[in-house]
Amino acid sequence: MSASDSRELRIVGFLCNWCSYGGADTAGVARFSQPTDLRIIRVPCSGRIDPLFIVRALINGADGVLVSGCHPRDCHYAEGNFYARRRLETLKQFLSATGIDPRRFEYTWVSASEGQRWQHVVTEFTRRIHELGPAPTMSHVSDGAWFDAAAPAAAGQGCPCHG
Ligand code: FES
Repeated sequence: MSASDSRELRIVGFLCNWCSYGGADTAGVARFSQPTDLRIIRVPCSGRIDPLFIVRALINGADGVLVSGCHPRDCHYAEGNFYARRRLETLKQFLSATGIDPRRFEYTWVSASEGQRWQHVVTEFTRRIHELGPAPTMSHVSDGAWFDAAAPAAAGQGCPCHG
């Protein structure tokens, strides 16, 4: 059951192992109440997240996707979150051109000590997704079509940071 209403939606969270996963754990240990819609996928670093992971989740039934990593300059791998920020910002621009509501995707930074911030982030994003409601079905869009369209961006071609 979610905090916003009685119907649970499908929200996928990609969390970096070193900061945001710890922040979620801290929130849990402190027993901060949180919506239960989020399904967490732990990744080594936000820099590991291919934007196509997010697209694939959204076209395959996720109602929202949240990415969270270490704060800028705190990445365990020094620059992973800077790369992530460029890619994810590009993805945000790209989503609106594809029929996916960009409000269904968000990224943020939460450290391992910020349990309360994690609670706030999850609660607010879940509230937003509940306001949007269940995502429209994307069954008319195949993964293959998406990958063909997105391959140049995934390779860093045609994005603002790579020209
Ligand atoms: Fe957390 Fe890189 S290790 S964002």
